[in-house]
Amino acid sequence: MLLGLAALVLGLTHFTVPLSYYEYLKGFLKKPWGLKIDEEYSPSLSVIVPTYNESAIIEGRLEDIKNQSYSVEKLDIVVVDSASVDSTVDVVREWISRNPDVGVELVEEPVRKGKASALNTGLKHVNGDIVVLADADSLWDRFALREALKYFSDPSVGAVTSIKEPSGTNRNGYVGIELTYRSFYNTIRVAESKIHSTPVFNGEFAAFRRDLLIKMGGFSSDIGADDSHAATLMALGGHRAIAVPEAQAFELVPRSRKFYFAWRVRRAKHLIQHFSKALKWVSRAPSGFRGVLFTESFLHLVNPWILVSAFVALAASFFEGPTPLNVAIILAVAAILAVKRTRKIFSAWILNQAILAYSAISSIWSKELVWRKIDHWK
Ligand code: GDD
Ligand code: MN
Repeated sequence: MLLGLAALVLGLTHFTVPLSYYEYLKGFLKKPWGLKIDEEYSPSLSVIVPTYNESAIIEGRLEDIKNQSYSVEKLDIVVVDSASVDSTVDVVREWISRNPDVGVELVEEPVRKGKASALNTGLKHVNGDIVVLADADSLWDRFALREALKYFSDPSVGAVTSIKEPSGTNRNGYVGIELTYRSFYNTIRVAESKIHSTPVFNGEFAAFRRDLLIKMGGFSSDIGADDSHAATLMALGGHRAIAVPEAQAFELVPRSRKFYFAWRVRRAKHLIQHFSKALKWVSRAPSGFRGVLFTESFLHLVNPWILVSAFVALAASFFEGPTPLNVAIILAVAAILAVKRTRKIFSAWILNQAILAYSAISSIWSKELVWRKIDHWK
């Protein structure tokens, strides 16, 4: 009975923390930003696109930036390629020659040292007041730049990211899982931003004040989640790092099971690295952000293990034999799984917890700061 009770308490703790946090956050969604925003503000900007073997999609990425509802005179693009072994640089060169109206610089690193390192190389080549990071495998809503950049008219804003929507053709497969998860994810990012800042940024669209980035020495090359980490450092320094609902980015979700899981595990590892480092600074975070950073660190680093412990306690309790309590727990889970909507959310959640737990362990032997290119179509 004691093991069953332990399973119940651990299980309830595991689910109560995120659910209460989510309910608490939802209350902030309609609150004002507490910022003075000039709708017409359009600073000069530099978009950095890091590439490694992106020949299939880099042209679409450049076209998409060019077609933004933002004056091309105000923007320049720096493509930083790290020794791609496909034709990425040829495609970029060719695009540059066909589009003389857009300022594009191609920077080629002779050796691949990872994305964060490439971003730091890119930083040496940018002139805009705002630096926007754009993963090659993402696309933006046409108004994303205009909508996101106006927030920088308030000097307290240091960084702005978009919300994101998964895209891809297999909507009943992994895109479906991502869609279930994203609606919560976007709500959480925006609500945290209303309070003060969000510690999770999206590489698909992440904008920073250039002077602040330079002052902090660029991106940390020992953290995979370079974007989230830089944003968090800005928030710790008192600036706002916000996700804004008007700016949307679309990211390609890998098709195959093998690539989908490799992608999820790598990203989870990167966030674990980020929170493990950021957690040390929670006490010096500005009020508002302190609670957000602490809770998110807990959710990424500790909460998955509470679920694992609950599961172990439940399994062990059955070795002692069925009791009214452990049988009731199984029936409660079965009831959740019986209803389509709760089944979808529950399984996406459990999968995420399993990935976080697995990633924490596999981080011990590989941090994946330089990672294998994922083919989205295979
Ligand atoms: N120059 C250069 N050098 N670019 C690289 C390298 C490298 O070693 N490795 C990856 N890139 C480029 C890719 O070509 C792509 O444009 C971008 O960096 C992101 O790489 P993906 O392989 O697509 O990463 P992801 O989608 O799993 O993760 C992204 O999103 C995360 C969450 O938003 C990355 O941006 C992560 O840093 C981010 O945390
Ligand atoms: Mn990607």
